[in-house]
Amino acid sequence: MTVETALLSADPDGYARAAELLRGGELVAFPTETVYGLGGDATNDMAVARIFEAKGRPRFNPLIVHVDRIETVRDYVEWSHAAEVLASAFWPGPLTLVLPIRPGTGISGLVTAGLPSLAVRVPANPVARELLKAFGGPVAAPSANPSGRISPTTAAHVEAGLAGRIAAVLDGGACDVGVESTIVGLTDGPVLLRPGGLPAEAVEQALGEALARQGEGEPVTAPGQLASHYAPGATVRLEAERREPGEVLLGFGRVECDLNLSASGDLTEAAANLFAHLHALDETGKPIAVSPIPERGLGRAINDRLRRAAAPRD
Ligand code: TXA
Ligand code: MG
Repeated sequence: MTVETALLSADPDGYARAAELLRGGELVAFPTETVYGLGGDATNDMAVARIFEAKGRPRFNPLIVHVDRIETVRDYVEWSHAAEVLASAFWPGPLTLVLPIRPGTGISGLVTAGLPSLAVRVPANPVARELLKAFGGPVAAPSANPSGRISPTTAAHVEAGLAGRIAAVLDGGACDVGVESTIVGLTDGPVLLRPGGLPAEAVEQALGEALARQGEGEPVTAPGQLASHYAPGATVRLEAERREPGEVLLGFGRVECDLNLSASGDLTEAAANLFAHLHALDETGKPIAVSPIPERGLGRAINDRLRRAAAPRD
């Protein structure tokens, strides 16, 4: 089904219209500090089903629920000391916590894909916060890209991927962080389920303990973490010291390249540029080579996304 996708501005009329659409079970893409999310009313089964349909998700991966206040999160999940420590240190911000879901929350079973846990996050982006306040309920939102493609960090990226399939895009400019939230599981001991916009080192420092890592070969507990993901149309070659004939080079640091994630070697700047640069190079239609990126701080999230972009496709 094709619908007219409205581009809404981040002003009182835009927030009111976006909230009205959400209340009606429609989908609205909105900016967060990490990437744009494809939002739907988390308590409305139809709205949540539409999210999967619009993205073309092959199966029902659980979704992150976004709310505007920490106090509201406690209505949905079993709170714990570790949750309190991380929430007070990093919320609002690019951190998602997975906690045991409480009974009778009204959250659609499609959001959790039947799991006994719920992923929750309080975003920091002011446009996201205004929208959540105007709507007044929990918003389920995966990244606002067709399944398996690069995550969007501008309203234009969202339109390129999803125009005609969603009711509206709320335009809040480019996302500051540029990679998805860090996901920490707290249903048992603390586990890093996905490296992301908040460095794992910062989480470990706040907790005063190391995060368990999801080991190779273990069952995937963040089911969205499929090997081939975030994929541009062209092939991607990692750890490239130079550009081979016919390739475009996505550089990092002092290197001659087509686009540079950060000429000064700043990982925060590189994360913010990652998806926009991949989108732009993908448009050349040429294979993409990528400079080596150090595996520390935000470099871990960047390398995680790049490895998925380079993984063999189905
Ligand atoms: O930054 C972000 O997190 C963005 C913005 C929009 O908030 N959202 C995002 O959502 O990246 P998505 O759907 O692309 O990724 C959510 C990840 C998936 O890997 C999913 O499997 C995992 O979170 N997840 C969700 N609920 C879970 C749960 N109960 N247990 C374990 N993993 C869960
Ligand atoms: Mg995603």
